[in-house]
Amino acid sequence: MRRRNSHIMNRREFLGASAAVGGIIILKPGQVRGSEANSAVRIGLLGCGGRGNEVAGGFIKNAGARITALADLFPDQLDATQTKLNDKLRAQGYAPIDASQIFKGPDAVHAIAASKEVDAILLATPPYFHPTHLEAVVAAGKHVYCEKPIAIDVPGAKRAMAAGKQAQGKLSLAVGFQIRKAPPYVELVRRIHGGALGTIGCGLAYYYCPKISRPDWSGASAEVKRFRNWVWDRKISGDIIVEQNIHVIDICNWALQAHPIKATGAGSRKLRDDAGDCYDNFNVVFTYPGDIQISFGSTQFDKHAFDASMRLYGTRGSCEAHYDSRMNIAGEEKWDAGLGKTQEGQFSAAGSFRGALDQADPEKQKSFVASITSGQFLNEAETGAESALSAILGRNAAYTGKVLTWEKLLKSKDVLDPKINLATMS
Ligand SMILES: NC(=O)c1ccc[n+]([C@@H]2O[C@H](COP(=O)([O-])OP(=O)(O)OC[C@H]3O[C@@H](n4cnc5c(N)ncnc54)[C@H](O)[C@@H]3O)[C@@H](O)[C@H]2O)c1
Repeated sequence: MRRRNSHIMNRREFLGASAAVGGIIILKPGQVRGSEANSAVRIGLLGCGGRGNEVAGGFIKNAGARITALADLFPDQLDATQTKLNDKLRAQGYAPIDASQIFKGPDAVHAIAASKEVDAILLATPPYFHPTHLEAVVAAGKHVYCEKPIAIDVPGAKRAMAAGKQAQGKLSLAVGFQIRKAPPYVELVRRIHGGALGTIGCGLAYYYCPKISRPDWSGASAEVKRFRNWVWDRKISGDIIVEQNIHVIDICNWALQAHPIKATGAGSRKLRDDAGDCYDNFNVVFTYPGDIQISFGSTQFDKHAFDASMRLYGTRGSCEAHYDSRMNIAGEEKWDAGLGKTQEGQFSAAGSFRGALDQADPEKQKSFVASITSGQFLNEAETGAESALSAILGRNAAYTGKVLTWEKLLKSKDVLDPKINLATMS
């Protein structure tokens, strides 16, 4: 039970109910609004697509948060999301989203950021917008959960880091790498950091994915179709290595506690049949400190099996860590996460499928909300930008076919600009 309107609080009660950061007293939402029934953290969703709906629904179900506002360019996205999320809100005994909190059009980002009905924004727009939207949300003083990638070019990553500095100690800023909260991965990485593999010599990471289908958007102009199918477009998505494969690159950075210092690679677009310009395969060698070479590969075309994984090889053992099952360490300190459909394992969630990522999103959502209610604010801008830059390093090396160092990459002023007129999108 939270304490409200108390005249006398001892120090322990005071610290338990609020946090002092940089001289500012941060109160829990329930204390600000003065009602226990309304004390749930209020989240506004910016970008009402597939991922936004998934994570927003998870915030309600897994973390007890309310969704109180929606923003998007397109009315159909807003309508469908309002219906779906209102059902989820009602199921938890929360009020539906008020009509005054539905924001549409190119300025919807500023309207939702300024809303007095939200404590935090879930930013799930296409990657090209992330630095700009992050800046707007932080400037408005709202906590933010930004989907990955935080940026698709170097200037964007620097802007995101600057927004992170502004938020530091005052706001929570999470980046959507939910795998870092998946219990089997957390345990694996804890063991790697504890020396279970000995001296790591080399490894591989891959993300082999079938094509991503999108709706037909019949009747829409060519410009609108291109925009709505942004995931096929290099200048809006950052290409598959930055938009999607970044998850396994992030796992490598996490496990190796470093970012790559150089990369060389190749890639091409020869088998995919969608209307965009993204590559359908990348093959990159990343060099990490200590001359650790990580061989990275990815695909995105029909029709082949899905598999995403990381393997590391060291003097004491090796590990493999797939998204679904098969997560283990071989060698001197053998360990098996016990994942899989047929076997009950230590990381089993309640559901019938016991994959490595089953609990990733719920844990990530709970940790973001808890960081706000506890006043122990998260700030993942630096690690988020580091992983974005690592993926950009691999992409740019593959585009040019030349060795690219981290140092040289950071000097890049190239901005990916899709030249989209948002006023024509509706
Ligand atoms: N963490 C994960 O596992 C994961 C999984 C899937 C997607 N994602 C990320 O989530 C983000 C969204 O992906 P998605 O699959 O939901 O895409 P989507 O196309 O389904 O949704 C994007 C939404 O943003 C809206 N939008 C576009 N530009 C906007 C603007 N300027 N202002 C307001 N709204 C705008 C679109 O109309 C759409 O409703 C991407 O960054 C993607 O990489 C993360």
